[in-house]
Amino acid sequence: MKLHDMRKEFGSQLDEELELPESPFETFQLWFQEARKLYRDDANCFVLSTATAQGTPSSRVVLLKDFNEKGLSFFTNYTSVKAKNIQENPQVSCLFYWSTLEKQIRIKAKAKILSKKDSETYFHERPRNSQIAAWASKQSRQIESKRELVKQFLDYKEEFKEKEKIPYPEFWGGYLLVPEEFEFWQGGLYRLHDRIVYTKKEGSKSWQQSRLSP
Ligand SMILES: Cc1cc2nc3c(=O)[nH]c(=O)nc-3n(C[C@H](O)[C@H](O)[C@H](O)COP(=O)(O)O)c2cc1C
Repeated sequence: MKLHDMRKEFGSQLDEELELPESPFETFQLWFQEARKLYRDDANCFVLSTATAQGTPSSRVVLLKDFNEKGLSFFTNYTSVKAKNIQENPQVSCLFYWSTLEKQIRIKAKAKILSKKDSETYFHERPRNSQIAAWASKQSRQIESKRELVKQFLDYKEEFKEKEKIPYPEFWGGYLLVPEEFEFWQGGLYRLHDRIVYTKKEGSKSWQQSRLSP
């Protein structure tokens, strides 16, 4: 399958220059708000890349559930492949791409386990069936059939039927991804894209902006 003729044009003006706020967190908020208007409940999908201690990478989509100056949060199963990777190598990469906006955000971050209290609070905010599904799924482990998974789900549903509150599974929870570098990419005419990187000065809390060639 040759795809040479697939070609999307970006941008509209040659001299359009992207100017961004001093804080990468403010820029993220602005871009995310714009994406949310357009993509609604898909705006918070991002690709999370992790790697083993030996450096073997793997990527998957997860959902952003909180963002502030401390970092980005998402939730998962602590026995999954990504969780095992994070345990041996906390360096991760996050990637957001909103095609219609011609925007990409790349964030290098260090992952930390969220407090049990925060994970438990969010767990109970989820729909009851999603909470039960978290019990039923031994994420990333091989299973015989979909039927086996559904049976697990129905068994837990039965087990918890008298309980008003589903117990919190200790193997499920969140991570806080603490940003170390941000890159904001805006599509430009003739592939002359804007790329603005924010790095942290050594030992300082302030961020420095620089522009990269596309
Ligand atoms: C739109 C979308 C949203 C997803 N959100 C999450 C999520 O928030 N947490 C999660 O653990 N997996 C989520 N997944 C599933 C992951 O992509 C992945 O299949 C799963 O976490 C297992 O990954 P691992 O084996 O690399 O750990 C999502 C998948 C899609 C397509």
